Amino acid sequence: MDKDISQAVIGRLPRYLRYLGELKDKNVERISSSELSAMMKVTASQIRQDLNNFGGFGQQGYGYNVDFLYSEISKILGLEKQYNFVIIGAGNLGKALGGYLNFEKRGFILKGVFDQNPKLYGTMVRDVKVMPMEDLPSFIKENDIDIAVLTIPKEGAVLVSKVLVENGIKAIWNFAHVDLDVPENVQVENVHLSDSLMKLSYNISSYNKNKEGSEGGEAFV
Ligand code: NAI
Repeated sequence: MDKDISQAVIGRLPRYLRYLGELKDKNVERISSSELSAMMKVTASQIRQDLNNFGGFGQQGYGYNVDFLYSEISKILGLEKQYNFVIIGAGNLGKALGGYLNFEKRGFILKGVFDQNPKLYGTMVRDVKVMPMEDLPSFIKENDIDIAVLTIPKEGAVLVSKVLVENGIKAIWNFAHVDLDVPENVQVENVHLSDSLMKLSYNISSYNKNKEGSEGGEAFV
């Protein structure tokens, strides 16, 4: 890909992929941008603009070929290959993420789970045994691990991220509430579920304010 694609567009691609995956499962072969727009509640022009970043993929009077578009978006998102990942922190969140089978369907394969609590060693997260942190460096190298999922408290996260980087990890999916300082060849995606919740609370309050506004000034009578 020659040009930089905005993060906003990249952020929308997984949603396209999800809808196209559902269409594929229903054996739908093609879809027009207006049908896709109605399904996804996104304007047809937004869809065209987004997909034009990558050369369009659509044909006048035909729409989009579902299989083709699905595989092109998969390629853009780097999903045509398999990624091996480990989870650091076998607590509530680590176990929940480890148990989520759909990651495998997308090519993300859980290879190892690590924790510092000896009581957890040998316990299972799905079909993977929890291992001690001391085993992490050699495990990353020997098992070709691409991604580490950090589900530990922020206090330990910076130190652990250093160990990960020193041992050649390519990316960190960071759930710890701290910004990590890593070299530019290591990708970090921070996830804060509470951000999404705050967006929701903003939308509730702004909806209520607008509603009050449109109902007139009777509140002061
Ligand atoms: P938890 O207490 O159930 O599990 C944390 C696990 O991490 C424990 O098993 C503990 O032994 C292990 N651990 C702690 N420090 C470690 C270290 N330095 N190295 C290896 N293992 C270590 O907590 P839970 O609910 O699973 O949450 C984990 C963290 O994720 C919390 O700090 C929480 O703040 C954060 N979190 C973030 C969310 C987000 O949206 N970003 C959502 C929920 C939790």
